[in-house]
Amino acid sequence: MLYALQTLPGLGDLAWHEAETHLPASDGPGAKLVGLKAIPGRNDIVLVAYRGSPKPFLGLRTSEDAFIVAARGFRVASDDRGPRQIYAAVRNSEDVARAIDLWRRTTGSRQQGGSFRVIARTVGKQKFLRRDVGRAVADAVREGWPGRWNLVEDDADLEVWATLVDSELICALRLSDASMRQGGKVRHLPASLRPALAAAMIALTDPSPDDVFLDPMAGAGTILLERAAAGRFAELHGGDISGDALSAMQANLRGAGGRIHLSRWDARRLPLESGTVDKVAVNLPFGKQVSDESQLPDLYRSVLAEVVRVMRPGGRLVALAGNPRMLELARAGTARALRPGPRHRVIVLGMPAAICEYTRQ
Ligand SMILES: C[S@@+](CC[C@H](N)C(=O)[O-])C[C@H]1O[C@@H](n2cnc3c(N)ncnc32)[C@H](O)[C@@H]1O
Repeated sequence: MLYALQTLPGLGDLAWHEAETHLPASDGPGAKLVGLKAIPGRNDIVLVAYRGSPKPFLGLRTSEDAFIVAARGFRVASDDRGPRQIYAAVRNSEDVARAIDLWRRTTGSRQQGGSFRVIARTVGKQKFLRRDVGRAVADAVREGWPGRWNLVEDDADLEVWATLVDSELICALRLSDASMRQGGKVRHLPASLRPALAAAMIALTDPSPDDVFLDPMAGAGTILLERAAAGRFAELHGGDISGDALSAMQANLRGAGGRIHLSRWDARRLPLESGTVDKVAVNLPFGKQVSDESQLPDLYRSVLAEVVRVMRPGGRLVALAGNPRMLELARAGTARALRPGPRHRVIVLGMPAAICEYTRQ
């Protein structure tokens, strides 16, 4: 069957890497990448062919939602033939019965039908509207899919997501609920990361069971929570200058096991011995939401110098910054021992940002 993973813009490759390494290959060949689509500024969609059970898709952390593809359409016309072609593709797809069956088994639904809603999205220059796509899909479901399906606005048993990217249609049934996006996080702060982005950063630290891990500006602790979810570690250290952030962090990490130390601290003077930390991941403050922008260059320089001090040679830093140029200037100023690696462009709170990888020399 074909599945679709939805993640944040820029994370498609990392979401695929997680799927490739985490989906079990025991009951057939492993997962195969079929395609990667972008809904600019909104989402990356990864199409994955997989023969095993859909359940492991729900445990992936770099994706926010998982779907099973019920129908696809190719060469959809951009004029008024488009909605008719979409109707035909969705109504006549040979994959619908199996997709509904797998959706039912994955979500525990016993019904032979029920309520459904359609979420339609378009990318490209079609001469018809997004709601025409929605209407074509809704008509096809009601008139052609097995079972009795009633269209509703909200709280549907089944969500049918129809995404038209230029001339290609992907019509998919949502398997996940909100819990996949929340990743176990119970408290959120205004500048807090989406868990999928934190999970992508953690994957780039190359987690290992003997890691001494640090997030020096941890906010609500999203990165720490994802490190705890990624497998064993030796020690987890996190802190923030704000008392509010510390209490959110404590609430979010309450259920995590292992040696976890959370503190209120100033990341420019960490209470940690030199050369003791293996991995650091940090979401540096950016924009006016969390800091006075004029102070950011100084803050970046001081924090990077402190990160270099506490890290072991060979350690890895993964930093998310809204202004990677400012980060590079800070590194060149006070942290030359950090060797720059790849950068990954992402969108955070609607603004362009970059995940930057470094190795401590
Ligand atoms: C972008 S937020 C981090 C958000 C976090 N990744 C999350 O998901 O909640 C940046 C954090 O840096 C903290 N911060 C700013 N200056 C600091 C300093 N000198 N020392 C420690 N934390 C600081 C802010 O209080 C804020 O919580």
